[in-house]
Amino acid sequence: MTNVLPSIEERRARRALSPEPISREVLGTLLRAAHLAPSCNNSQPWRLIVVDEPEALAQVKEALSGGNYWAKQAPVIIAVASRQDLDCALGDRRDYFLFGCGMAVGNLMIQATELGLVAHPIAGYKPEQVKAALGVPEDYVLITLVIVGRPGDPATLSDKHREIEQGPRVRRPLETVAAWNRFAFDDLKTEG
Ligand SMILES: Cc1cc2nc3c(=O)[nH]c(=O)nc-3n(C[C@H](O)[C@H](O)[C@H](O)COP(=O)(O)O)c2cc1C
Repeated sequence: MTNVLPSIEERRARRALSPEPISREVLGTLLRAAHLAPSCNNSQPWRLIVVDEPEALAQVKEALSGGNYWAKQAPVIIAVASRQDLDCALGDRRDYFLFGCGMAVGNLMIQATELGLVAHPIAGYKPEQVKAALGVPEDYVLITLVIVGRPGDPATLSDKHREIEQGPRVRRPLETVAAWNRFAFDDLKTEG
């Protein structure tokens, strides 16, 4: 039986990156994988801005939060933007644009893994600054930046990040997130 689990196991949110450039042909393959994701009513809500030119890349990197220092090595950053009205917005808070973009990024990450690349989505950046740098209109949500590159030298990382990079995969026990036939979770509400 062939399956994609080995690639899913292999994918990690790696931080050690090489600044070596990545061809547009390879980046095109990542975009194709993202664009083949399913979406509600085939809305295709993802708007993917591939940043690979030095000036734009430097501007985006200026908006990274301090903890994302490692992403400054990246030769490519893919900004993912969308708007609520670009996808199904149904009752009970089912605004699917974020979900659709997540599906697209999921495909992209697995394809990147297959190509020996790192594709690491982050939330730690100033969204308004990135939007201004890339000309993204105000009413779009800058959902994530996917940091893309070839694997690099873990010696460039902080001690904490090197430990995570080389440590085991961390996940909650499966039974705390998956149940058979009936909701059976004990999620405590966080304050605020
Ligand atoms: C929406 C989202 C935001 C994230 N933001 C950051 C971030 O700002 N900085 C970072 O280093 N990692 C970030 N990560 C990576 C997660 O920390 C990582 O996926 C998680 O710890 C699980 O590790 P794994 O992907 O290697 O299994 C983010 C991941 C997601 C999906």
